[in-house]
Amino acid sequence: MAQDKVTTKDGRKPIRVWVDGCFDMMHFGHANALRQARAMGDYLIVGVHSDEEVERNKGPCVMKEDERYAAVAACKWADEVVKDAPYVTTMETLDKYNIDFVVHGDDITTAADGTDCYQHVKDAGRYKECKRTVGISTTELVGRMLLVTRDHHIRGSRTTGSPMQGVDEAAVANFSQGSMPAGALTGIAHYLSTSKKIIQFSSGHEPQAGDRVVYVDGAFDLFHTGHIEFFKRAREFGDYLLVGVHDDQTVNAIKGGNFPVMNLQERVLGALQCRYVDEVIIGAPYSVTKDVLEDVYHVDAVVHGASDQPLDIDGKDPYELPKQRGIYHEVEHPRLDLTTTVIIERIIANRQVYIERQARKAKKAVSEAEQEQREKEVRAALHM
Ligand code: CTP
Repeated sequence: MAQDKVTTKDGRKPIRVWVDGCFDMMHFGHANALRQARAMGDYLIVGVHSDEEVERNKGPCVMKEDERYAAVAACKWADEVVKDAPYVTTMETLDKYNIDFVVHGDDITTAADGTDCYQHVKDAGRYKECKRTVGISTTELVGRMLLVTRDHHIRGSRTTGSPMQGVDEAAVANFSQGSMPAGALTGIAHYLSTSKKIIQFSSGHEPQAGDRVVYVDGAFDLFHTGHIEFFKRAREFGDYLLVGVHDDQTVNAIKGGNFPVMNLQERVLGALQCRYVDEVIIGAPYSVTKDVLEDVYHVDAVVHGASDQPLDIDGKDPYELPKQRGIYHEVEHPRLDLTTTVIIERIIANRQVYIERQARKAKKAVSEAEQEQREKEVRAALHM
């Protein structure tokens, strides 16, 4: 393996770290696990399970395996992706990829037969934990989508009503039967964003002299392969990618219903973890203004996917200014088959399957919490 011959700057053998998982609807909680794992070593290899392997052990994935492989590969902390990684992590896997140790979030992951997926590597003393990001999970995201009506994503309703508007009562009732913890039940357990997390996710670098700055903007809700491919193509127009993320009110005014599924801070972290993104404007205006083109950095190119863009509230084309300046470019939408709406439709089409999966997860969470409580009581009784 070529990597083994490489040494670090201080002349030692690089520490090779392994993380594995499903990475379904890859979110910033996953990215944060990869960030922490990467910081524990020098080279991060991420094993991603196939659809078949996840289905057998955990239930169906929303995103297909190729989409999940691509999402992990686009995370700036992943050095290498291993496709079709086994669900249970064994010493053979560690030997095969010359791994020093495995990292996983501080929650237990069990295989279909109930055994701990990391027992082998734990027994061998080759297991470390990172801190799980509270307030975000695939279950949480699916919950938010299941709680919205079937027709909530009809574009152009231009409502600014409650995000819970049009909640499907039957879905809520079904969740209740699964003794879902309050957060997962209502879909309101939003992540609490901090400035520290934004700093941890930021690249921190500025464009160098002579670098061409490219600007793109959008909602970037449920960050997915379509966004990744778009960023990749946009970056080819220059050297530095500045991404404008629209605020929640703007996205809601344009897309209507309960959009966006993820709030502004969550969408910003989703974009920042992507290796093609250099900097983000948090709450960018819908129209590309003079400020956007000149105040943060001097923008040399504005890139947009070739699709009809709704006009701004004043009836003007949001790209009027970059068009006038001759810096506007369109790229073919790389993945028309994959949009935020398509993801929501996948969940709604398999509503029952996902409701059952949510209920199973909730039940597991409840029994884990009970177990923890019991352990606490035993410890207290023994004065430990
Ligand atoms: N992870 C994390 N924080 C989260 C979600 C996941 O640190 N909020 C970590 C997991 O602990 C694991 C890795 O990301 O180390 C991959 O997780 P995955 O196998 O996709 O499963 P889940 O933990 O079930 O992720 P989710 O709850 O989002 O489905």
